[in-house]
Amino acid sequence: MKELSRKYAEISPSLTLAIAAKANELRAKGEDIVSFSAGEPDFNTPENIRNVAIERINRGGNGYTSASGLTPLKEAVAAKLKKDNGLEYSSSQIVVSNGAKHAISNTLLSVLNPGDEVIMINPYWVSYKELVKMAEGVPVFVDADPNNHFKATAEQIAEKVTPKTKLLIINSPNNPTGAVYTKEELQAIGNLAIEHDFYILSDEIYEKLVYGVQHTSIASLSEELYKRTIVINGLSKAYAMTGWRIGYSASSIEIAKMIANIQSHETSNPNTIAQYSAIEALESDKSTVAIEEMRVEFMRRRDIAEDLLSKMPNISHVSPEGAFYIMVDVSAFYNSENGIANSTEFASKLLDEQKVAVIPGVAFGVDNYIRLSYATSEENIRKGLGRIAEFVKGLKA
Ligand SMILES: Cc1ncc(COP(=O)(O)O)c(C=O)c1O
Repeated sequence: MKELSRKYAEISPSLTLAIAAKANELRAKGEDIVSFSAGEPDFNTPENIRNVAIERINRGGNGYTSASGLTPLKEAVAAKLKKDNGLEYSSSQIVVSNGAKHAISNTLLSVLNPGDEVIMINPYWVSYKELVKMAEGVPVFVDADPNNHFKATAEQIAEKVTPKTKLLIINSPNNPTGAVYTKEELQAIGNLAIEHDFYILSDEIYEKLVYGVQHTSIASLSEELYKRTIVINGLSKAYAMTGWRIGYSASSIEIAKMIANIQSHETSNPNTIAQYSAIEALESDKSTVAIEEMRVEFMRRRDIAEDLLSKMPNISHVSPEGAFYIMVDVSAFYNSENGIANSTEFASKLLDEQKVAVIPGVAFGVDNYIRLSYATSEENIRKGLGRIAEFVKGLKA
């Protein structure tokens, strides 16, 4: 048999999805698993959004839409970007995709040529690296300092800029660290992009989940930054709509056309019924209330989790200001006596011995850490962290 694709053979599978699958498998076998692996809200999609889908299915007329999405949805996205982010886009600059992940993938395919360098901040969201490789770009990493909330400074980024730098990925609020960049920090990073002429992909999918700080879109800071930024966002996290698969990009018309063109051959339009529900999600006042309720609940759980973690000896964590993840430094337990040399072994032993699923930090580029998601009930948070406390008590630091 002839050789399969060399490019895709080098792509690693998503470790986060693999661990969530393993936890589900053990649960199905009757094991009492507490999972901190979820990358999605544990709430149902708000009722008004669900009802639009039900009505739409019964009404009929659910054929293909334009590949780049329904015009009323693109208009609703443009109105949202103006209201929430101070950004002016026409609907021809918006492309609705099958989730933010798809919007990111299409953007990378549109912007990159083979060998172009893409700077990402380490810790990074697990898919950025692989998506860049799939688009024949070269990932370049800037190591962020945990003492600076895991945020990279403009100076640190500048050290990695070369003539081949084509794009910088900013993810604020951040998965996996919960870091939220301030306006001033983004301005300094934006100045670099202007000075060295590179694009910015700003992944703002966790925009609505911020706790006591403000989200700023880097595209809103100047006309120059608006022109060179591709804003990515979607409905998954803010509206508890992960499975509906609606995300979008907002960019220059030139880039939007390329994204739409790629999508027209790849997948055609995103699910028509989900697009109608997305209009309701973006336009209804009820959504504002639902989002606020979820945000307040996530913040409460974050506080509980941080409190319990801070009582555990030899463990430290980076305090998150957004999203629903906490990075916990467990490297004090990496030694031969414990039979643990890295985050994968820590996570694996924790799952075997205490039935708690966490994501090893190595999936995000930082092996001293594990990632906990607090998109799970207070009961699970207390139970799971109690088990982690038991687990580390039995280890030698
Ligand atoms: C940082 C980040 N960007 C994008 C996505 C993708 O979201 P979507 O469900 O819209 O594809 C995720 C999902 O986990 C994420 O964490």
